[in-house]
Amino acid sequence: MKRILTGIKPTGKIHLGNYLGFIKDLLIFQKRYEVFLMIADLHAQTIPYQPKELKNNVIELTKSLLALGVDPRQSIIFKQSDISAHLYLCWFLSCLSYIGELERMHEFKEQKERFKKIGVGAGILLYPVLQAADILIYNADLVPVGKDQIQHLELARELARRFNQRFGKTFKIPEAYFNPETEKIMSLDDPSKKMSKSLPEGCLEIFASAKEIKDKIFRSVTDSEKIIKYDPLKKPGISNLIIIYKHLTNKSIDEIENEFRGLMYNDLKEKIYLKFIQYFSSAQSRYQQIKEKDVITILEQGKKKAEKVAQDNLAKIFKLVGLK
Ligand code: TRP
Repeated sequence: MKRILTGIKPTGKIHLGNYLGFIKDLLIFQKRYEVFLMIADLHAQTIPYQPKELKNNVIELTKSLLALGVDPRQSIIFKQSDISAHLYLCWFLSCLSYIGELERMHEFKEQKERFKKIGVGAGILLYPVLQAADILIYNADLVPVGKDQIQHLELARELARRFNQRFGKTFKIPEAYFNPETEKIMSLDDPSKKMSKSLPEGCLEIFASAKEIKDKIFRSVTDSEKIIKYDPLKKPGISNLIIIYKHLTNKSIDEIENEFRGLMYNDLKEKIYLKFIQYFSSAQSRYQQIKEKDVITILEQGKKKAEKVAQDNLAKIFKLVGLK
């Protein structure tokens, strides 16, 4: 059975863009493949953060994933920091990485610019090396990633090849999984940008209150034309709302345009709000029921399963690199 590994950083709440772009696919994968779903808490430390917040975010994110349908009987859900093997492998791989190639990563360049004033930590330079270790320590076949992570995946493949060449064949070369049907969900208040927690006004958090969801949908940016038509270049706001409605209803764009012919933008917004609440209602009620101690138990169980695989591989790697 193919093994899938993916990671998600505990840096904020799950939003509609995360769900449609990533989690929905995972729910299908867990039925067919062996899924390792990692809460990337070590990666979350690469930019300034508050310790208490990080701890809460890990619980909150895990709870959200469980409520949305990640099934711990099917998927291994675990915390990155629970498995020390990632850090050993990260070290071995970092000794095989060139500083220049790490400095050329887009994400490194972006973060370096972003934290220019306070100075950027070396963790951000090693970020993709740790990510490579996350993947390789499990010998994952497939790694579902967004477009922005493709470069990191390329580096993971390169480091796997380099390690194999230096120490003998050890790692599978992982493939990126990229769903061509996934449409980007844009920010509700600025449809030129991707929906993201860094733009809170335009970000539809799945477990927000009904009032907040309604307000954000009704405040979303449209245009002055008053025609509900899909045209991402000329009507980016309305087109984004149409795409959201399409996912919530499984209707085609044509069907949606017909449904709203002659109607107002607010009619579309009202319908999106109602469908959103309906679509996530069972996840909402599961979310209310899951207790923190259940989350901790599930992460503990995930740790045991992940650790076994990672430690077995690490023991082999220790021999290959000359430490045992
Ligand atoms: N860097 C990824 C992101 O920000 C998260 C991540 C960490 C990851 N380790 C990973 C994704 C390993 C895939 C595989 O989205």
